[in-house]
Amino acid sequence: MTARNIAPATGKLGVLTPGMGAVSSTFMAGVLAARKGLNAPIGSITQMANIRLGTRDENRNPKIREFVPLAELDDLVFGGWDPISPNALEAARTAGVLEGADLSEISGELEGITAMDAVFDQRWVTRLDGVRVKKIDSKWDQAQALIADIENFRVENGCDRLVMVWCGSTEAYQEPSEVHESVAAFEAGLKANDDNISPSQIYCYAALQSDVPYANGAPNLTVDTKCMIELAETRGVPIIGKDFKTGQTLMKTMLAPGFKARMLGVRGWFSTNILGNRDGEVLDAPENFKTKEVSKLGVIGSILQPDLYPDLYGNIDHVVRINYYPPRGDNKEGWDNIDIFGWLGYPMQIKVDFLCRDSILAAPIVLDLALFMDLAHRAGSAGVQEWLSFYLKAPQAATEVPAEHDLFIQQTKLKNTLREWMGEEPVTHSEAG
Ligand SMILES: NC(=O)c1ccc[n+]([C@@H]2O[C@H](COP(=O)([O-])OP(=O)(O)OC[C@H]3O[C@@H](n4cnc5c(N)ncnc54)[C@H](O)[C@@H]3O)[C@@H](O)[C@H]2O)c1
Repeated sequence: MTARNIAPATGKLGVLTPGMGAVSSTFMAGVLAARKGLNAPIGSITQMANIRLGTRDENRNPKIREFVPLAELDDLVFGGWDPISPNALEAARTAGVLEGADLSEISGELEGITAMDAVFDQRWVTRLDGVRVKKIDSKWDQAQALIADIENFRVENGCDRLVMVWCGSTEAYQEPSEVHESVAAFEAGLKANDDNISPSQIYCYAALQSDVPYANGAPNLTVDTKCMIELAETRGVPIIGKDFKTGQTLMKTMLAPGFKARMLGVRGWFSTNILGNRDGEVLDAPENFKTKEVSKLGVIGSILQPDLYPDLYGNIDHVVRINYYPPRGDNKEGWDNIDIFGWLGYPMQIKVDFLCRDSILAAPIVLDLALFMDLAHRAGSAGVQEWLSFYLKAPQAATEVPAEHDLFIQQTKLKNTLREWMGEEPVTHSEAG
């Protein structure tokens, strides 16, 4: 197998997050702490995982970060936009994910990461009142202002390369419309202030026009549109969506493949969550919850393949609820009741009660997406990066074939992509392998 020509990861990599709230500030704090040797970057595949190369008897198991040329944590520079948080320290304090003791040694650096004024429109996030907002009415001019922000950040911080990871709020539900059909239609829409263009799409357009890869951590429509795919492909820039796979959906994509592997039936899957952070407050609005619900519901059907297995999975009631409950803060509780059935149709129940910390699970995903999107860009891989579906609740497919949701197939895809890019044989786990 011939290795790809991958440009080296020299110089600084700027990581820009539209949205500096719980996830973004926890991500930045964790990288700064890891850099100081205060904590290991737990949950990050790029930093912690090994990758097997060749057959088992070759005993070649390097760390991924030693195998592929990734940017080093020391080379990362952080920036972002937010209509509320003034800087990453204030964002971290408001979010309350990390304790004061964990913030104290890095507070100066976090405070230095100031949020740029946001492109924000309350129509898309009714529960938030933005104050640090660009006072520009034209959507075209808003895009140009973001392009200027990106360029200023690049110059001021001496960045060699940049990536953008959306860590902003979930926007109101939206289907693609005519304005999303092509780049030309989208640009005309920006100039005409088309109502169907949301803020996240303006950030994405600005990123791609600036040759900056864009990953979508929210369930927003953004990159799932013909115009953004066209723009990414023509400019040779990677994109991927959408919605970080954490908490309950992570559990689903671990459990469902197991039921299918053993040919156990599923009759129902009831999922409910309580959470009390700003994300929960935004999702308390029905039009924003709908965006999240659609992203969460796709998972089970796709993994269990009811068309192939109608007797086992043809009649599943799948219900997802999210309730905003302020006392819980970022420490979400996700309950799942799963009704399964086995031999002779006998029913059984599984209860999962995941007392998780949303942003603790999402932060390493931001890091990995940033580093891998930068790698993809240097490897000349443009458009949808299906191999990163591992990190996402509603992954984008690069072709007409449906996206893969099974966490273990996604992991194989990710590792085999790295092997192929580096000129190693894919691992097949066959008898000799
Ligand atoms: N935490 C998780 O486990 C998880 C998992 C999957 C997806 N997500 C998604 O990630 C996003 C961030 O989650 P969070 O917990 O950090 O939420 P958060 O509310 O703490 O942070 C989001 C930030 O985005 C800002 N924002 C809103 N509109 C903006 C705009 N137009 N431009 C710039 N900033 C804007 C808000 O002011 C807020 O500070 C949400 O969309 C959430 O649904 C989170």
